[in-house]
Amino acid sequence: MGYIGIDVGTSGVKIVYIESAEEVKYQVTKDYPLYHPEPGWSEQNPDDWWNATVEGLKELFTFMSPDAVKGIGISGQMHGLVVLNKNGDVITPAILWNDQRTHEECSFLNEKIGKDFLSTHTGNIALTGFTAPKILWLKKNKPSMMEEARYFLLPKDYIGYKLTGNMFTDVSDASGTLYFNVKNRTWSHEMLDIIGIREEMLPKVYESFEIAGTVNEFASAQIGVPVGVKVVAGAGDNAAGAVGSGILQEGTSLISLGTSGVVFSPKDSYSVDRHNSLHTFCDASGKWHVMGVMLSAAASLKWWVEDVNKSDYDTLLLEAEKAVAGSNGLYFLPYLSGERTPHNDPYAKGTFVGLSSSHSRGEMTRAILEGVAFALHDSVHILKKLNIPFTQAKVIGGGTQSPLWMQILADVFQVPLVTSSNTGGPALGAAILASVGNGAYSSLQDACKQMDVESQVYEPMEQNTIIYSKMFPIFQKIYSSLKGVYEEIYLIEDSLLR
Ligand code: XUL
Repeated sequence: MGYIGIDVGTSGVKIVYIESAEEVKYQVTKDYPLYHPEPGWSEQNPDDWWNATVEGLKELFTFMSPDAVKGIGISGQMHGLVVLNKNGDVITPAILWNDQRTHEECSFLNEKIGKDFLSTHTGNIALTGFTAPKILWLKKNKPSMMEEARYFLLPKDYIGYKLTGNMFTDVSDASGTLYFNVKNRTWSHEMLDIIGIREEMLPKVYESFEIAGTVNEFASAQIGVPVGVKVVAGAGDNAAGAVGSGILQEGTSLISLGTSGVVFSPKDSYSVDRHNSLHTFCDASGKWHVMGVMLSAAASLKWWVEDVNKSDYDTLLLEAEKAVAGSNGLYFLPYLSGERTPHNDPYAKGTFVGLSSSHSRGEMTRAILEGVAFALHDSVHILKKLNIPFTQAKVIGGGTQSPLWMQILADVFQVPLVTSSNTGGPALGAAILASVGNGAYSSLQDACKQMDVESQVYEPMEQNTIIYSKMFPIFQKIYSSLKGVYEEIYLIEDSLLR
């Protein structure tokens, strides 16, 4: 008997099965499309998530019996807005975490309502990816759809709803809506009034490991898991990734190198930094965490390898390995979807700076890996300024498959980085939450003690740390020099589109 974890990611769904926290026994992934119907927009179809989940579970059950499943946990991409009508049907594509269309709504919230008010009531300020500005955008731009809207869910919660028929969320994912009081772990009535929605339109909130429903007949008929199997509330993908990596203690850190790039640190108590430079969210363990999020981490490499070069990762990464540290003075700003931490700038763009006719494709690929490392270092830099310890970190996500990228990160951050042979990530975290919720362990800490510890350590290489510490201030300077230019580019593009 064991537990299933389902992670609704941006490129696909990942499903794992565990019998104990020690190891992932089976794992499947199913991809689905991502749509960019207009510049800066990012959407997915919630039914693609559900269909991929059903397909993935069917494949999983070619290896094992669905009768062995004792509990299910879910995790997923945060902040996305899923809109349902009174019958519980999806009425518009989900607007995702990396969508930038809400800059006007964010200016209204940050400037008219005020950052101090937002921070007092939610622990955060308005950022384009968060959910509240998306609801305001719908109100203004699709009023008839807003009239039809009856429920607002987050991506993983749509899967929870399909599995159980209940509408529920968890504290970590709710934290990214900007209508949740992160300090008190409840919906913020002050913010609901400002956005103009009622609490009945929102899912019920649970702690991540609490049981929020059971598999119903509809889901059982599709996935084969018996009716009555317990489903826990689960967690946003970063909080779930931290559980799956055993990062629960204050003083430890996690880097996630997936489509987004995240620097994550658990906190024992609630606190918000003066400038809200990092997000302050509830954790899956009953406490809190802070994190900095960049929007295009592995997404930058994917764009370069798959869309631009129409090549494969092995070929391009092998070329990058032959390039020297620093890519012969070539810099890449990975702001392909604008940027969140530290710039909160929807207009920022991906940019190569320093190109000359002597640069090779290998150097361009290496500059992309280095640019993502510098962009993550911006968040590490903020952690250090806030006196949050960052002496070593665990790294999870697809990017860990490249030893070159791991070494570059260790050299840029100047701390040892650890990857694990256990690659379950947020899906593993979700399965562990299900096992704790079902009483297999007394606590998350207890479950994580059992985890597989086989790992690889990347120590910083001194000669490279010298190069990167000279390059990082220039990387930062490039953005400040170009900020105004990015805005002008946006204004011209916008006027051409109208
Ligand atoms: C977190 C965030 C991303 C998504 C990606 O704030 O926006 O990490 O959760 O899945």
